[in-house]
Order: sequence, then C-alpha cells, then structure tokens
Amino acid sequence: MEIEEQQYIVEINQVSYQYSSRNVLEQITMPIKKGAFLGLVGPNGSGKSTLIKLILGLLKPDKGTVKLFGEPVDKFRSWDKIGFVSQKANSFNSGFPATVFEVVSMGLYGKVGLFRFLTKRHKEKVKEVIESVGMGEFIHQNIGELSGGQQQRVFIARALVSDPELLILDEPTVGVDVSSVRNFYDMLSKLNKINGITLLLVTHDMGAMTDHVTDVACLNKHLHFHGNSKEFEDNKDLSEFYGHDVHMLTHNHSHGGH
Ligand SMILES: Nc1ncnc2c1ncn2[C@@H]1O[C@H](COP(=O)(O)OP(=O)(O)OP(=O)(O)O)[C@@H](O)[C@H]1O
Ligand SMILES: [Mg+2]
Repeated sequence: MEIEEQQYIVEINQVSYQYSSRNVLEQITMPIKKGAFLGLVGPNGSGKSTLIKLILGLLKPDKGTVKLFGEPVDKFRSWDKIGFVSQKANSFNSGFPATVFEVVSMGLYGKVGLFRFLTKRHKEKVKEVIESVGMGEFIHQNIGELSGGQQQRVFIARALVSDPELLILDEPTVGVDVSSVRNFYDMLSKLNKINGITLLLVTHDMGAMTDHVTDVACLNKHLHFHGNSKEFEDNKDLSEFYGHDVHMLTHNHSHGGH
C-alpha cells in the first residue's frame, strides 16, 4: 500500500460517467505515476475535461474510483498539492482591476489566508514564479491589458506559486501562437524534469506535445491507449488517427468561438 502511494499520484480505476443517461466515459483505468508528464489527447467531446473534473472531485463517478496521492478523492484534503488551470481561464477583460503580481498572489491564499499579508518570502516566491513563466517584464501590468497567451502564462504562474506536486492543465495553449507554444512546452518540461512536478496536460498540439511528454493517453469515451510517448509514436494507426482527427477538429474549434 505504501509503495503504491509513493508511485502513483493519481489512480483512476474502472471509472464510468454519464451526463443525463448519456455515457461520456466508460471503464477508464488510468494511473499517473509520480514524475510523469502525461499528454491527454482526444477529439472534441471525447471526455477529457470530464475526466479532469472527476480527478478534481468536481464530479463523482457513476462507477469506479479515483484516488489522489493514495487517498480516495472524497476524503482528500491536501488540495494545495494540486495546481489546476482550466480550459476557460482566459476571461479577464481589459477593465479587470488586478496586476499580474496580484493575480499570481491569489494562488497563495490557500496557504496564507485571504486577508493575511504576504511575507517578504511570499512576495519573492510570486516574483520568481512570474519570471519562470517569462512574464517578469509585465509584473505590474493589469492582467486585462495582456494578450490571451500572456494571460494564460499568468494563470499557470498562479497555479505554480503554491509549489504543487501535480499540475493539471486543460488545453492551456488555445490561442497561443506556434513559437510561444514551443517555449511554453519547454517551460513545462523544465518544471517536470528539474522541479519534479507531475504534469497532466490536455492538448490538441500534437507536434509540440510528442516532443516533450513522457507518456500519452488517447481518450474517446474509452481509453484507447496509455503508454510512453515512443510507443505512441511507433503506433502509426493511433498517432495518425489522433493526430489527424484532433488537428481537423481543432481547426474548426478555434474558428467556432470556443
Ligand atoms: N455539464 C454537461 N452536461 C451535459 N453534457 C455535458 C456537460 N459537459 C460536457 N458534456 C458532454 O460530455 C461530452 C464530453 O465533454 P468534455 O467537455 O469532457 O469533452 P472534451 O474532450 O473536453 O472536449 P473539448 O476538446 O471540446 O474540450 C460532450 O459530448 C459534451 O457535450
Ligand atoms: Mg475540454
């Protein structure tokens, strides 16, 4: 039992889920090892965001179990070990009255309490994290005045500032240009390799993804594949189906006003 806790950060076991009697996920078993950088791919509507909500305890499985750090999700309380950036994080308009520094500081409130002052150490941590996502020069800028991709980096900084052991990102690169996507993946790789953070990344950027992740999971109601990225690339049928399908759908997706 103890060995299991060490080894797996997330254990999804035989999970099924339906929204109003329509099956969205069936019999998903997907353990995530400590230290993995797992890319989760699948066409629109394949259940990726639903699976993440199940991991975060926002939805309850109809069948099966979810464990986090060895504990059943409904008993789990150490939420500061988990950072999360949702698919629709990009929603600050230009009037939103908070600077990059302030938005990232919000990520510490779970630790320091909403109305307590940040210590000097906390402030340094906030600054350091902002720099690590390449946003140092914007630290005192209003969040609403940044581009979508820049805002996305700030949200990641906010998720990182409490030093999570697991970082979950649901399509963080929607609206981010191609060269920034590369930099962004390099940044995630560093977090994974150097800081040892376990990462779960939902993405449609197949090209950038396969160069960076350690493992890939392919979801389309069922989990069609879960293995290391080399096995995924060697499986031509799979990588073509998911690569092609996902690409086509992403194209429509991004012009359909997400
Ligand atoms: N709150 C909800 N109520 C009813 N059905 C839902 C709800 N949320 C999602 N669904 C349906 O469940 C299916 C899976 O949705 P989900 O958001 O998990 O897909 P996804 O893989 O994240 O897609 P995308 O790539 O577009 O983000 C879709 O068919 C969707 O219409
Ligand atoms: Mg989704």
